[in-house]
Amino acid sequence: MQTSPHAQDQDLSGLTPEEVTLQAVQEHAGQKGNLLPILHTIQDRLACIPESVVPVLVEQLALSRAEIHGVISFYAHFRTQPHATHTLEICRAEACQARGGLELTAHARRRLNCDFHENSDDGQYTLEPVYCLGLCAQSPAVMLDGVPHARVTPEKLDALLRSQEAQS
Ligand code: FES
Repeated sequence: MQTSPHAQDQDLSGLTPEEVTLQAVQEHAGQKGNLLPILHTIQDRLACIPESVVPVLVEQLALSRAEIHGVISFYAHFRTQPHATHTLEICRAEACQARGGLELTAHARRRLNCDFHENSDDGQYTLEPVYCLGLCAQSPAVMLDGVPHARVTPEKLDALLRSQEAQS
């Protein structure tokens, strides 16, 4: 995660998300095309860009909600929820997709009841796409909390998640 140069030297505790947003707007005031740096600053400080800050950005930047949502949803880096306890990354690159990755993705979406860039209902997992883990010859591959796993079937994925839950 990027850290804003301003973030380290400020005590942001006690600020509401809306106040953090106002501060970010002030720090980037007068810069051309400042929406992206403002969004980065907000996410650096809040771990996500919550919906509640969008009206502040609309008012401060004289942009429409649609414009702001468009930028947030275009860049996969931006999140509207903080990361869950565990992160499951599923390889979406070609070799994995051709060898069971599509079924695996559909299974993970069903099991966690969320889509990519979202958290499971129980707040345990964030589901993310990843593009090649270097395990193409042993596809499909996933990464669970930074640990790669190869030749993952839906059954193997269930077992991995159960084992992760048992350790939590
Ligand atoms: S394509 Fe999935 S690991 Fe390389």
